[in-house]
Amino acid sequence: MKKIAVLTSGGDAPGMNAAVRAVVRKAIYEGLEVAGVFNGYQGLIEGKVESLQLGSVGDIIQRGGTMLRSARSAEFKTKDGQAKAIEQLKKNDIEGLVVIGGDGSFRGAWELTKAGIPCVCVPATIDNDINGTDFTIGFDTALNTVIDAIDKIRDTATSHERMFIIEVMGRDAGDLALWSGLAGGAETILVPEEKYNIDTIVERLKSGTGRGKKHSIIVVAEGVMSGSELASLLIEQAGIETRVSVLGHIQRGGSPSARDRVIASQFGARAVEVLMQGSGGFAIGMRNHELIEYELQEVFVKSEEKDMSMYELSKELSI
Ligand code: ADP
Ligand code: F6P
Repeated sequence: MKKIAVLTSGGDAPGMNAAVRAVVRKAIYEGLEVAGVFNGYQGLIEGKVESLQLGSVGDIIQRGGTMLRSARSAEFKTKDGQAKAIEQLKKNDIEGLVVIGGDGSFRGAWELTKAGIPCVCVPATIDNDINGTDFTIGFDTALNTVIDAIDKIRDTATSHERMFIIEVMGRDAGDLALWSGLAGGAETILVPEEKYNIDTIVERLKSGTGRGKKHSIIVVAEGVMSGSELASLLIEQAGIETRVSVLGHIQRGGSPSARDRVIASQFGARAVEVLMQGSGGFAIGMRNHELIEYELQEVFVKSEEKDMSMYELSKELSI
């Protein structure tokens, strides 16, 4: 392999830049040429490919977002779009591709791998929802952003003796809500993986009030329902008044945490090593604190079991 490329795709995540830097620097260290594809798969279809040098990725390790930009591309999901992308890769003499993104982006990489372009994937999403890896790039930073918000909201909740609902990201995945709720001392946490019962929520809030609790924090993942829907339910069913904060895209931005920069550097460099072995079709990850590569197809197998021990713990600690 003489020349590889790297792209970022799907929802951006803090630490993507650190991963791009690691891919570029490691590739050059290994004597490869490396190109950057701008605007994800859509950019690939449109031929937005540029050669990258050591200096191209200077001064980005500390920056949020992605210097390569990101995109969601409906066209790339079609065979026609994929054929155009492959044509661009061939035109630019690119023999392998590192894809940094979430599981949707990984599916795209699998299509390219099957079509003869070896791809290795680096997990980056604030949702922390990629099968096979304990952590994804961006999760730690987003988690700290949410905790910072919860702490601030707690101050005003205490002063005014109010109940607050904090809506966090996570359409299908509850890790951000669960970890931030546990770390932020939330009284109630709602995640897509676990059915909620409005009566139980009301009971918990009332029992808290009954023993003199003056304020409460509820963290809800957007995939369960919106914060305002939950607020309406609580008013309608129990006359409980709440204030709602929707954290939104603030969770996706900001300078990556040290941890995200470190795993991004490790993942990016390992991706190049795996790609150099030739066949592609692998994802990089972290399992039990160990850096690993595993078959890309493992990502697409939905595991039936979900470890809910942290969810149970959060309930025990917020009685
Ligand atoms: P993420 O990578 O963060 O999960 P998306 O699910 O939006 O984000 O996926 C990013 C992009 O990956 C999509 O816009 C599309 O171009 C590509 N992609 C997603 N699913 C597929 C698929 N099944 N086949 C080919 N490409 C896909
Ligand atoms: O996949 C990451 C994520 O931030 C989800 O948590 C969220 O639901 C979604 O992306 C939002 O995507 P968009 O920025 O396209 O609205």
